[in-house]
Amino acid sequence: MEHFDKKAIDARVAAGFPLTDRWHNRFHLEMPFGLINDPNGLTYADGEYHIFYQWNPLGCEHKNKCWAHVRTRDFVHYSLPELSLWPSDEHDKDGCYSGCGFTEKGRVHVFYTCNAKNDGIRTPAQRFGTLQEDGSVEKGVIAVPDSPAGITGHFRDPYLFHRHGKRYFVIGAQADEQEPRGTVLIYEETKEGWKNLGELKTRLGHFGYMWECPNLLHFGAYDALIFCPQGLEAREFDRQNIYQAGYIAGHLSLDSLDMMQHSKFQELDHGFDFYAPQVFQHEGRHILLGWMGMPDKDDEYPTREKGWMFSLTLPRVLSLRQGHIYSRPARELKALRIEETAIDIDMDMEQNLTEQLFDGTEALLDLTLGKAQHISLTLAYGLETTVFSYDRTTQVMTIDRTGMKHGGRGVRRFKLFVDRMLSLQLFVDRTAVEAFFQHGEEVASMLVFPEKNIRPELRIHADAPLESVTGRLWELDSFHFTR
Ligand code: FRU
Repeated sequence: MEHFDKKAIDARVAAGFPLTDRWHNRFHLEMPFGLINDPNGLTYADGEYHIFYQWNPLGCEHKNKCWAHVRTRDFVHYSLPELSLWPSDEHDKDGCYSGCGFTEKGRVHVFYTCNAKNDGIRTPAQRFGTLQEDGSVEKGVIAVPDSPAGITGHFRDPYLFHRHGKRYFVIGAQADEQEPRGTVLIYEETKEGWKNLGELKTRLGHFGYMWECPNLLHFGAYDALIFCPQGLEAREFDRQNIYQAGYIAGHLSLDSLDMMQHSKFQELDHGFDFYAPQVFQHEGRHILLGWMGMPDKDDEYPTREKGWMFSLTLPRVLSLRQGHIYSRPARELKALRIEETAIDIDMDMEQNLTEQLFDGTEALLDLTLGKAQHISLTLAYGLETTVFSYDRTTQVMTIDRTGMKHGGRGVRRFKLFVDRMLSLQLFVDRTAVEAFFQHGEEVASMLVFPEKNIRPELRIHADAPLESVTGRLWELDSFHFTR
């Protein structure tokens, strides 16, 4: 087991801020060194949101998994990231894996998976911990010491929720069958300890070989199970990443352990770089943070050579309507807006529009399509391009990153219903791009690594004159980090 010196690591992080590498983002959470992945431990306490995330402070490989921690009151001003939880005993010597957070009597607690591997055999234990004054998590009791019968060592990422005044958690698992099968189990807190109620039944059948990072959410009369299935085949308009992050919405019955009348599986994001989201509830909002990255695709992220990898998404607020989750950027992000430019163009004769973007940009655009059937929005970094193109006849949005030299490339396609107006909210950071379509009906997150250190242009082109293009552009400020 590696030795983790919190003081030394925190000092190195502090010295790394403000971040200097030109591929570092300005308004996305990142680390000056090491590899970050899943958001963890999200909770709110005493005026502050607590955000933890997976972090290997010792290199850019998926090992030495620790938790980093930041606090924020407004998603714009943050405390400097600190090392908070790290492998230290026989239970978590091979990683402090993902888990959730919660607040009790004003104290922040976490619940995470301890990963231990001996002779190739994993023993996953689920353990509580409590955040201390000095920013470290003190490890507490182990609630579940190992995976139960019928489940392999792939048993991780517990997520607590409340029902009928009782505590439960849902956890990602792999059923030990001829053909390993992804699933989730539900545990209930009893006087005797945490009791395994069994698998949550769904209509999905064999749906991948492992489900990671489940979240169980309650939206009024509906429930949603978010999870990350591994092992699904790509299809024409979805499941195009190596692993997915999505949900089913229905009604959870804890009596029959069933997700009743659930919707089909839908992805939360259609971009190239989105995985392992975590959602927490605060004052009626469901706030999501995701990992901008992908497991087992390390070659697609050229910052590895610079000693740092990956980002977290902006905070998004979720709502459920007719079995579909909508995602909107959290309203707090409006505070990032510095300078506003209005766009109001009567495009009757126009098929092309070009706007110079800033070092950080938010664009809010409404395109009234008129006779146009095919519309493209190109982010151009000199000769390099990332293109969003919409085809009205097939109702397909295509994102094409093949015009970039570095990093992951390829194409993603998804169905998007647009009647007369295509609405787009675009956040363009140095390498992180997040696009919200039709007021959050669909989202796409991606990282693009332009070779030249130049600000992109946004070029809109239509195959026939658009009726109008209205909207606003903002130059965005950076996140602020203070001790
Ligand atoms: C998802 C995941 C989790 C695990 C963590 C380890 O990206 O594989 O299942 O807890 O990452 O870093």
